[in-house]
Amino acid sequence: MTKTYGVIGNPIQQSKSPAMHNAAFKALGIDAIYKKFELQESELASFFDKIRKQEISGISITIPYKQKAFEFVDDVSSFAKKCGAINTVYFKDDKLIGDNTDGRGYLKSLLQETKFNIKDKNILLYGAGGASRAILYSLLEQNPQSISIANRTLAKAQNLCHYYKAHPAATNLSLTSLSDKKVLANTDLFINTTSLGLLNKPWPDLSFVKNFKPGTLVSDIVYNPKETELLLAAQQNNLAVHYGLGMLVQQGAIAFELFTGKSPNVDLMFEAIT
Ligand SMILES: NC(=O)c1ccc[n+]([C@@H]2O[C@H](COP(=O)([O-])OP(=O)(O)OC[C@H]3O[C@@H](n4cnc5c(N)ncnc54)[C@H](OP(=O)(O)O)[C@@H]3O)[C@@H](O)[C@H]2O)c1
Repeated sequence: MTKTYGVIGNPIQQSKSPAMHNAAFKALGIDAIYKKFELQESELASFFDKIRKQEISGISITIPYKQKAFEFVDDVSSFAKKCGAINTVYFKDDKLIGDNTDGRGYLKSLLQETKFNIKDKNILLYGAGGASRAILYSLLEQNPQSISIANRTLAKAQNLCHYYKAHPAATNLSLTSLSDKKVLANTDLFINTTSLGLLNKPWPDLSFVKNFKPGTLVSDIVYNPKETELLLAAQQNNLAVHYGLGMLVQQGAIAFELFTGKSPNVDLMFEAIT
């Protein structure tokens, strides 16, 4: 019987996940389909009942249900626990497990596509939302020299720093702003994890980009459009760039393995969404 997988969220129309997963199922000859489910919060409990009855075999979770999902699973991975968010739910030994593949997906994409070595580097992370929290955990695991966090709402950046204070590599975690020229001039890797740069959300000011030193790598997790305003500004300043689509594919590929126990063809998943 054809197995059903899917992504839940609201809104969900923009999701590229079905194209990616369905291409990987087809290539591996797996009899399964991956769909979009736009759900109201009041529909979550009955949807998870369907998963428990195995009418649905596994799901990805996007905004705004990554925290709420904790209520419906039996156990969570150390990644999901640390990030405080679940983006993947799958069955293991008849238990529903919540995991988070965002941080690992980002890291894999960064390392494979740019060969950037995080150890002993100075990182500036812009944003303090869910994606930032997941990425920050994965970065800390790689022992960078320092991570500075900037965010529009300072209190959220403070919360994020506080959240990871106990991590052994968190001693060099601090708060900053995009107007701190000294921090910018010392940055090896800048990562935008805010939603600025999405098609309908232009950056108010990108003049800070000219304050990075030559050789700074500018990474944007926004992937729609692929060439974001930030990455265009970085290229105009002769800086290397890292695109957001790779993270989308790699986090999806890790989820696919959790769903099926099989490694998907990542290039094919990439092709399916570009
Ligand atoms: N490539 C991928 O696979 C992938 C995966 C996940 C997410 N993403 C992208 O990452 C973005 C963030 O996702 P998320 O889950 O972290 O969202 P989130 O939890 O809602 O966080 C949004 C972040 O964006 C900031 N922000 C929003 N509007 C802003 C503005 N006008 N000016 C300055 N900062 C602003 C917020 O700052 P405040 O705290 O001040 O509100 C916060 O830091 C998404 O839009 C998506 O495009 C990509």
